[in-house]
Amino acid sequence: MTTETTATTSGATESPAMRMMGLLYGSVVGRLVSIVAEFGVADLCADGPRGVDELAADTDADPDTLYRMLRALAAAGVFTEVAPRTFALTDLGTTLRSEVPGSMRDHARNWGSAEYLHTLIGLGGALRTGRPSFDTHHGVDWWSYLAAHPRRAQVFDRAMGNRARQIAAAVLAVCDLSGVRRLVDVGGGQGHLVAAVLDRYPGIEAVVLDRPEVVAGAAAVVGGRATAVGGDFFAAVPPGADRYVLSSVLHDWADDDAVTILRRIREAMDPAGRLLVVETVLPEGDEPHLGKLLDVLMLALVGGRERTEREYAALLDRADLRIEEIVPTATPVGVLVAAPA
Ligand SMILES: C[S@@+](CC[C@H](N)C(=O)[O-])C[C@H]1O[C@@H](n2cnc3c(N)ncnc32)[C@H](O)[C@@H]1O
Repeated sequence: MTTETTATTSGATESPAMRMMGLLYGSVVGRLVSIVAEFGVADLCADGPRGVDELAADTDADPDTLYRMLRALAAAGVFTEVAPRTFALTDLGTTLRSEVPGSMRDHARNWGSAEYLHTLIGLGGALRTGRPSFDTHHGVDWWSYLAAHPRRAQVFDRAMGNRARQIAAAVLAVCDLSGVRRLVDVGGGQGHLVAAVLDRYPGIEAVVLDRPEVVAGAAAVVGGRATAVGGDFFAAVPPGADRYVLSSVLHDWADDDAVTILRRIREAMDPAGRLLVVETVLPEGDEPHLGKLLDVLMLALVGGRERTEREYAALLDRADLRIEEIVPTATPVGVLVAAPA
């Protein structure tokens, strides 16, 4: 056992035992973020600091409980207590507002859902079985569950939309799509990435492929600027594009399923075409990376996985594709540019 310590703000050192306590209590912060997102507290602070009693009245909450939750979140940098029992948003807390650039409110609500919490509780069982704990708890896989629960699916799709907007901006900052004729976003959700592409490159003929119940919502995002195709990417993808995009799709699937999706794209792709795989690319070793936590959610929820560069290379090779380059972005995801092998 090592005995290394870290410095605290008072200059004293924090023992491994206290750091362990910090790790364990970290899950409380995530829970509180989801709760205040659900109650819409950040929107109520949009115009400036608010007293807890007013906020409690507006959200039908118990004032003392709300105070203690906001105090804990202020300690985590999400709010700031500008006067006794009066809270304002920080930049971090502003991401919990609805409909602002960078909004993560729906993402936070999705994370706090009963389904996600049960899935995380079931991780110990997953460790024994190697099976997604979601399937064990609910008796169906995540995608079938969403198809049967449209209101829950709406929260999930909106959560994906929050993240997709951030990722699209980061990808477009590093990927030049000038000269691209036709682009197909495979598993493109409600079309947030395609909408961002078209804002910058209005001449591209763009297609969003997703499950029929999901692309039904794409019209509201892309308008008449792109074609929305309801389908199954294990069966076929729209052909003839010079750019295909797979953003946060391969990580939902175990290797054999991921290879099937890649093969469908390889069959559809122009010989001179390219596939852009937008995913976290895990660093080897101990380096901290958000993808290493997302990986655990993937195994529990859908039986998918985050992958290293080597693992992506092996997956692409099975579909007759090769990595041409990996372009980092300002977010935890990178863009793997793949070409026919
Ligand atoms: C994690 S989401 C990513 C969505 C979007 N690409 C993004 O970056 O936000 C995975 C997407 O794959 C879609 N999907 C799952 N199974 C599918 C299938 N068999 N055929 C087509 N799309 C599917 C889901 O509906 C969902 O929109």
